[in-house]
Amino acid sequence: MSDSVRQLEVGLGERSYPIIIGRGLLGVRDLTPFVVGDRVMIVTNETVAPLYLAQAKGCFPGKKIDSVILPDGEQYKDWKTLNLIFDALLENKHSRKTTLVALGGGVIGDMAGFAAASYQRGVAFIQIPTTLLSQVDSSVGGKTGINHPLGKNMIGAFHQPEAVLIDTDTLETLPARELPAGLAEVIKYGLIRDQAFLVWLESSVEAITRLDKAALAEAIYRSCACKAEVVSQDEREGGLRAILNLGHTFGHAIETHAGYGHWLHGEAVGTGMLMALDLSTRLGLISETDHRRAEDLILRAKLPAKPPEGMTPDRFLELMAVDKKNVTGDLRLVLLQALGAAVITSEFDSEHLQATLGYFCRTA
Ligand code: NAD
Ligand code: GLY
Repeated sequence: MSDSVRQLEVGLGERSYPIIIGRGLLGVRDLTPFVVGDRVMIVTNETVAPLYLAQAKGCFPGKKIDSVILPDGEQYKDWKTLNLIFDALLENKHSRKTTLVALGGGVIGDMAGFAAASYQRGVAFIQIPTTLLSQVDSSVGGKTGINHPLGKNMIGAFHQPEAVLIDTDTLETLPARELPAGLAEVIKYGLIRDQAFLVWLESSVEAITRLDKAALAEAIYRSCACKAEVVSQDEREGGLRAILNLGHTFGHAIETHAGYGHWLHGEAVGTGMLMALDLSTRLGLISETDHRRAEDLILRAKLPAKPPEGMTPDRFLELMAVDKKNVTGDLRLVLLQALGAAVITSEFDSEHLQATLGYFCRTA
């Protein structure tokens, strides 16, 4: 095991938990102190299982380990696939004294977490995220759930893990397209809350994309630190936590329109952040110079500049109306008032929003 293991804490009183970050941790780091009961059910998928399932079992010495291998893809983040986890738990007679382990990307983490939130009214779970996106975002904070054909992540629960184990070596096998998707969420933290991190990213984005170990480790640590701090202050998104959704209302519309699995979540967030930046500039919240600086960083991360071909402003508005950030009836968006400072607002006129949508949906 590397000696450069770093640890953060998500501070939630007696439900606080560690985020352990380092290289060579999978199969080596003993996670049994975070296991409730003497049984473990590892939830993973058909891509990750051959790569890491055997190794992951090494984290649970002395425990009786079962596993369930789900089909791979955002299109399987649904009731039918969720039920496979319950089938495996019941067939193997797991009681309430069991611990689920999510081994994989954000799809696995969200589904295993939701299964843990609801199996026998709630059991323990541990996150072992293996994509950049899940290491910097989805494994931390306890949002769990599945998609509905009418909207992303519409069914779910808040359920915090007992621990998050991030072995950055797992990123070595990540398909090339997944890295920019994770980087979108990394850049998000700089834009919404941490200007110093944003400046560091401007000089490090290429190192991250070529999987430079030190740059990746730093990006993951600083991202998790930002998320842990926000979640500790506002676990259930009563206010502050909503800033983590920069670009997500536009992005969820893109994902739903394209059909789950066609656009990666992080890609849609990347384009969504470009749209939020555009609207922030039109509203006079940020300068043209800051807009171009942020846009340049997002494009250097190799994220898509435009929504899918054929997506119209009306289609955006229809899908954005379903997004759960609008439950009050008003469309609320996360915008920027400076680089490193987000604002959550429904105070924008529809003309400006239409102008942004029109600009991004233009065909020429
Ligand atoms: P993903 O889970 O679909 O993983 C991407 C792909 O990489 C999959 O094919 C997966 O099998 C594969 N993979 C995973 N680890 C690998 C590895 N180490 N080597 C090789 N292949 C590997 O996608 P994602 O980007 O990790 O997560 C996206 C999901 O996360 C979305 O459903 C999104 O809604 C959710 N999300 C949730 C939160 C939250 O707070 N709960 C936050 C952000 C995103
Ligand atoms: N990804 C948004 C959140 O965790 O709140």
